[in-house]
Parts: sequence; structure tokens; C-alpha cells
Amino acid sequence: MQGNKTFLHVFDTHTIKNIVKLSSDGLITNLLGPIGTGKESYVFYSRDSHDNEVAVKIHRHSILAFKQIPSYFSLRGTKSGGFLKVIDDWTRYEYSALEKAERIGISVPKPIAVYRNILIMGFIGRDGEQAQTAVKDSSFDVEEWYKTIISFIIKMGKHGLIHGDLSPYNILNFEGKPYIIDFSQSLKLTSLTKDYLERDVTNINNWFEKLGKTELVSYKNILESIENYEK
Ligand SMILES: Nc1ncnc2c1ncn2[C@@H]1O[C@H](COP(=O)(O)OP(=O)(O)O)[C@@H](O)[C@H]1O
Ligand SMILES: [Mg+2]
Repeated sequence: MQGNKTFLHVFDTHTIKNIVKLSSDGLITNLLGPIGTGKESYVFYSRDSHDNEVAVKIHRHSILAFKQIPSYFSLRGTKSGGFLKVIDDWTRYEYSALEKAERIGISVPKPIAVYRNILIMGFIGRDGEQAQTAVKDSSFDVEEWYKTIISFIIKMGKHGLIHGDLSPYNILNFEGKPYIIDFSQSLKLTSLTKDYLERDVTNINNWFEKLGKTELVSYKNILESIENYEK
């Protein structure tokens, strides 16, 4: 836990207890990094007790984090209880979505464990060097990526899943291949939530348009390909 000392002071006592629990389970050793900091979450690089590289996403237990949870979280039917519980539920929800995405064959970090406000997943990168987001590293085949990302959107949709925050900030470029991360805003696809699917498609299309892609697949076509969502 030596390397953790630097970071422990930023966390509340619940979070520290949760880190200690995951360390004693051998799921994480020192938290190194951080490799990503959002306003209310931190992502650290670590290794498990078998020396495998992992990414550890910690949602801060704070009122601000609580406030940042999208209002549509209530559409998931889980926004109840105090903010500690809600943040833990939110973390678990993100983990379930990640598991689902992996199960259906989307390129995502491998889900490893979730405990309270901490999610452990496979590290996208190698030897401590993290893959960059597609914003920072645009060295990829535009045609191939577009095809892949659109097929991911459709596949997720067919399985009732919307990413909800799909953009080049949440896609990592690892060895020229796209990996989708950050399912914290994901949603079940229904007639009530399909606007979020449209937003994802629009974000992706605008981004690829800027990259020079001319033939874009419209939201309408994507919805038609998905067909069987819960109306
Ligand atoms: N599995 C991972 N492997 C490598 N880097 C990651 C991984 N998950 C997240 N990151 C890094 O952490 C940053 C923040 O993660 P993200 O899940 O997008 O959190 P936020 O909800 O704060 O946006 C990402 O932009 C990326 O740089
Ligand atoms: Mg993100």
C-alpha cells in the first residue's frame, strides 16, 4: 500500500476502506497514476497480486458527484437512498453495462470487479503506458473505425444498450483499434430513451465528418437496423 499514501488523503474514509478491502483481496496493489481524472471520478493504474495490469475507477463519494449523476438515472429505477448508496449503485450499474458490452462482443476493458464505488477493469495499454483517447491519438484508419463503431452502436442497440456518452473522449486507440470506455451514462434502449441513442450517433457522425468521412449512416438507418428495441 506504500504508493497509495500519496492518494489516500483525497478520499473519504469509506473509499479508503474500500481500497483496503480490494487490496486485501489481491485485486489491486499500489494505486499508481492517476491516469484519468474527471471532476468526480479518478482512474488509477494498478497491478493485481498476479502482476496483471488493471485500471481502477473510483467514483468520489461526494455531493458533487451525486449531483452529476444524470437526472435520467431515475429512468433506471435506482435513484433512491442517500448519496453514498446512489453513487455505489451508479458504479455497479456502470459495471453491469460494461459486462454486458463485453458479453456481446464490443471491444471494451475487461470487467474484473466492482465493490461499492470502485470499479476494476482491464488496463487498455501495455507496460504501464496507457492507450490515448481518440482525441489525442487520431492515428487510425478512419473508414475501418467508422464501420466498427457504427457496428458497435447497432449491436449494443440490438441488445437494448445505449452507451449514452459516446465521443472520441470515451474511445481509446490501442494499437490502432478502438476500445469503448466509460459506460457511466449508459441506458437501456426504449422508446423513452432513444433520443440518447440519437445523440450518440450524432456525436460520432459529427466527429467522423470532421475527419473527412463523407458517407455517414443516419440515425434513422441505425434505428431501422436495430428494429427490435422495447417500444
Ligand atoms: N480501462 C482503461 N485503461 C486505460 N485507461 C483508462 C481506462 N479507463 C479509463 N481510462 C482513462 O481514464 C480516463 C477517464 O475514464 P472515464 O471512464 O472516461 O471516466 P470519466 O467518467 O471521468 O470520464 C479516460 O479518458 C482514459 O484516459
Ligand atoms: Mg469519460
